[in-house]
Amino acid sequence: MKILAIESSCDETAAAVVEDGRKILSNIIASQAEIHRIYGGVVPEIASRKHIELVAQVTDAALKEAEITLSEIDAIAVVFAPGLIGALLVGVNFAKALAVSANKPLIPVHHIRGHIAANYLEFSDLKPPFLCLVASGGHSHIIKVTGYTDFTVIGRTRDDAAGEAFDKAARVLSLPYPGGVEIDTLAKKGDTKAYSFPQVTFEDNPYDFSFSGVKTALINKVHTIEQRGEELVREDIAASFNEAVSEVLCEKLFLAAKNLGESKIVVAGGVAANSMLRQKLSDRAKNDKLQLFIPSIKLCGDNAAMSASQGYYEFLAGNVACDSLNARATLNVGYNFKDLCK
Ligand code: KG4
Ligand code: ZN
Repeated sequence: MKILAIESSCDETAAAVVEDGRKILSNIIASQAEIHRIYGGVVPEIASRKHIELVAQVTDAALKEAEITLSEIDAIAVVFAPGLIGALLVGVNFAKALAVSANKPLIPVHHIRGHIAANYLEFSDLKPPFLCLVASGGHSHIIKVTGYTDFTVIGRTRDDAAGEAFDKAARVLSLPYPGGVEIDTLAKKGDTKAYSFPQVTFEDNPYDFSFSGVKTALINKVHTIEQRGEELVREDIAASFNEAVSEVLCEKLFLAAKNLGESKIVVAGGVAANSMLRQKLSDRAKNDKLQLFIPSIKLCGDNAAMSASQGYYEFLAGNVACDSLNARATLNVGYNFKDLCK
């Protein structure tokens, strides 16, 4: 079964064709990062307008690269939640029109479910159940994945997402947007022990995260150094900050795995590209004798191949959209499909 997927939840306009949820036939991504960089972050209105300009082009390119015509596609998947509402609406309306005109089923895909499915593209034998950490620009979740369409959130951030904290930290260090990869690069040249950053634990849920404290601590440290006229060693700040964020992500994930008796760990989302986090997870998994799955860097960030993969499993579960499907800015990853089309 060949699925064409469209993704426009943030600042990447993407389209891809995937066969049977596992084999990438094409994966086209038009990133708007260059445009948003001028403003230091994503400007929602600009993102929506750019999606309108690009969505048809990337779809054509995805079909062309997969050497397939629209009539040979079996279903169209689209990311409908969560994300920037204007941006999502572009993809949803385009995919709806395409599905109606080509007489194909339309499959709604949750963005976070898509991130997790990136692992199915990378690891052909990977199947649920497993425990998953999703860390992106908008989310930081620990999720129990009991089936391809069965998700239970057991931990989440109570304020900023990990990626958001990376991006804000980068801004304070005068690094360009998106800042995660910039901090990652700078951190390799710094001392992880130069500064200490606070770790937060919650008595009512040991798997919940908080990243606003560590972000504020970084801002305060940088201001103090500047006010005292001291030298700001950005490499050391980046390394210590990266250490704090990756340590807490790793720590809580493995704590959950231990307490819940999970032996398979899956990691997903843009922040999963972070080299320090990848190293920590790999060391910890070896130490705890757990199986670890992390997609290659190119599948960690937003792309439509991951949405097509999840779309395949949604289709197998019978989760085909009704005419009234709408975009949603927020939606729990564990949503019940029946509630979508009431
Ligand atoms: O999943 P994603 O592409 O988009 C969202 O769904 O948000 O994640 C983007 C986030 C951004 O905050 C970006 O700075 C972060 O992932 N990111 C990284 C790295 N690469 C991307 N954070 C840390 N280290 C990286 N190497
Ligand atoms: Zn994402």
